[in-house]
Amino acid sequence: MTEKQLKELLADLSFQEKLGEIQQITGAYFGDSGIVTGTDEDHILNEDEVNMSGSVINVVGAAKIREVQEEHIKNHPHHIPMVFMLDIIHGFATSFPTPLAQSCSFEPELVEAIAHETAREASVSGQHVTFSPMVDICRDARWGRVMESYGEDPYLTSKMGAAAVKGYQGDDLSKEGTIAACVKHLAAYGMVEAGREYGTVDTSERFLRQYYLPAYKEACDAGSALLMSAFTANGGVPATADKHVMVDILRDEWGFDGAVITDYGSTRTMKSHGVPETDAQVAKLALEAQIDIEMCLYCYHNGLPELLEKGEITMEQIDRAVYRVLQLKNKLGLFENPYRYTDEQKAYELKNNPEALALARESVSRTVVLLKNEEKILPLNANDNKKIAFIGPYVEEWDMYGGWSIRNQHKIDVKNIHTAVSERYPDGDFVFNDGCMLLGDDEEMVKFSPKRAQLYKEYIETDHKSRKERIAKAVEDAKNADTVVMCIGEHTKIGGELSSRANIVIPKIQKELFDAVAEVNDNIIVVLFNHRPLDISDIAEKAKAVIVAWFPGIMAADGITDVLFGDKAPTGRLTMCFPHTVGQCPIYYAQLPTDHSPVTEDYYVTGFIDCPLTPLYSFGEGLTYTEFEYSNIKLSKDTLSEGETLIASVDVKNIGDRDGVETVQLYIRDPYAAVSRPLKELKGFKKVAIKKGETVTVEFQLTTEDMKFYNVELEYIWEPGEIQVFIGPNSTIKEHIDFKLV
Ligand code: GLC
Repeated sequence: MTEKQLKELLADLSFQEKLGEIQQITGAYFGDSGIVTGTDEDHILNEDEVNMSGSVINVVGAAKIREVQEEHIKNHPHHIPMVFMLDIIHGFATSFPTPLAQSCSFEPELVEAIAHETAREASVSGQHVTFSPMVDICRDARWGRVMESYGEDPYLTSKMGAAAVKGYQGDDLSKEGTIAACVKHLAAYGMVEAGREYGTVDTSERFLRQYYLPAYKEACDAGSALLMSAFTANGGVPATADKHVMVDILRDEWGFDGAVITDYGSTRTMKSHGVPETDAQVAKLALEAQIDIEMCLYCYHNGLPELLEKGEITMEQIDRAVYRVLQLKNKLGLFENPYRYTDEQKAYELKNNPEALALARESVSRTVVLLKNEEKILPLNANDNKKIAFIGPYVEEWDMYGGWSIRNQHKIDVKNIHTAVSERYPDGDFVFNDGCMLLGDDEEMVKFSPKRAQLYKEYIETDHKSRKERIAKAVEDAKNADTVVMCIGEHTKIGGELSSRANIVIPKIQKELFDAVAEVNDNIIVVLFNHRPLDISDIAEKAKAVIVAWFPGIMAADGITDVLFGDKAPTGRLTMCFPHTVGQCPIYYAQLPTDHSPVTEDYYVTGFIDCPLTPLYSFGEGLTYTEFEYSNIKLSKDTLSEGETLIASVDVKNIGDRDGVETVQLYIRDPYAAVSRPLKELKGFKKVAIKKGETVTVEFQLTTEDMKFYNVELEYIWEPGEIQVFIGPNSTIKEHIDFKLV
């Protein structure tokens, strides 16, 4: 449709139809046949109102979506199609590594490829919008949703979020194989106090703009068709009512003209923040913040009519929201083809398509992070007549998908590590023993959240006799083996939304197993399955090798086997610090300098008297199966002015005995400025393949744009003065080379 036609359509809509366009419903209204089955006890819309809804969340399946759309167009007074939206967070038919894992690849092109494949699968299955990418900056491992983020760093998160948008949307949203992205959650949901879910956020305007907003802006600039407001309140102002962020910054400063949708009921949850009391007050605040679509919970439906009648809002405000929804539908090509690219046959064929599975498998080695590899115990050699015991629940567990997975399609056809290793090396001298269940009934979560524990009851060991016997058997296997590979970690469902944890250790029953095995065998390799950085201090001390696998998705088992036996080298790097203990949280590499630190490290951050200052493993850290040497760090000039480009270069030599891949990172520090600036800030990264014995020169470009920050007056400026440049393998680099901004 042309803009003129859209405007004519808008002018022709009744108030009820306009209300419908901006009020999203859930798929719960539609029975199996796709026909509206009337209201159910949770929902308040009548059939006519459902027939006027502009969008729906959580309808899954190509055939179902076609039926629902067909019925909808027939019954809608202007036959306007609905938009189908879903959380498609790390894969659709093919489950890929979680976003936090993906970020550890330091490869925006991998994130883009995964998003592109995801869009291909989701679009033929009838989906139009995914509520992704999530680009909340996360620095506290206690928060369950860190698994959905790209980690702690604004620069890296910005690159990954923009790549995901491009992967989902391509360059034309009306084209085949695309779905609309919805960047979320504006703003700073990841900064919830102490990682407490839906908790208080309180950022200064300066830090909001300097660290927490850039990634949302990059995703908007990359063309994200939608944006989602957060549940949280920042400084006491609910995000969904925050005109300063939603209008002054998002609309006026950034020029975002896409559709803004609330989080699931984040309108109504404003009442829980104690700001509005009635639905009408909620609706007024949200509309004034230019929220275009309310996701469920019906405050717009309940509140807008009376507000309009009382003259407290205007039809223009409503029309603006409705028009953005119509524009979204137009971008998606829905007026020309309401079924878009829905294709039941293709959706079926894409369920296990070889190229997606190959990408999923390839993603594993590029996202797992090798944190320790003492005595080069890895990679394993299946033909060295050594007995290897694979022990731990994740030896036999198939579900390594992580939170937000549409996992119900794969239970029949996915391998576990036992099957993958046995298939690969049928003559290997192996023993496989899960050793224990994923959870024990002594787990805090089981005690403090009995309702949630009920969800996982088939994973909880309640028989203490069996617990002891199974661990004893596993210890026997460990005793008789040369090497033990322990596959342990968090439960796949204890990650994502509503999964904040005060203790970030592996389940007690698994730690009991690990400790018992460590008593009888020194050659332990740990493969850790985790949603978030965990406190693995004791494990890392006792194990000779630690691989952080995160949750790698449908090809986890083959991908991990590739890494364990060296077919693929691990090349991931941490994008969130691992603390020594939960008491260190939040902890991140880009700390602000200070003094009076209780120890004399040249790392000027405050700390504790009973814990090291720095994290156990820091941002950017990760090993591989070869080593690299850095030399000849150079700057093309020793001063930099506006409009100029400075080249920073370094020689990187592969001094190991096999070809490898290194992620070269560039950080800067502005040691003295109008406001306190971080000890380091990532401003460049390059992942380069280097053959054994060879040297590669890696170059980075810096301009004054990279040096800008918000000063006391909140002006975004750079200042004359010294800048330190750090180039190396991770954020713990100490040596730097300097230049002057002039
Ligand atoms: C959830 C999440 C949000 C998700 C939405 C729809 O509560 O906060 O990320 O996209 O609701 O499921």
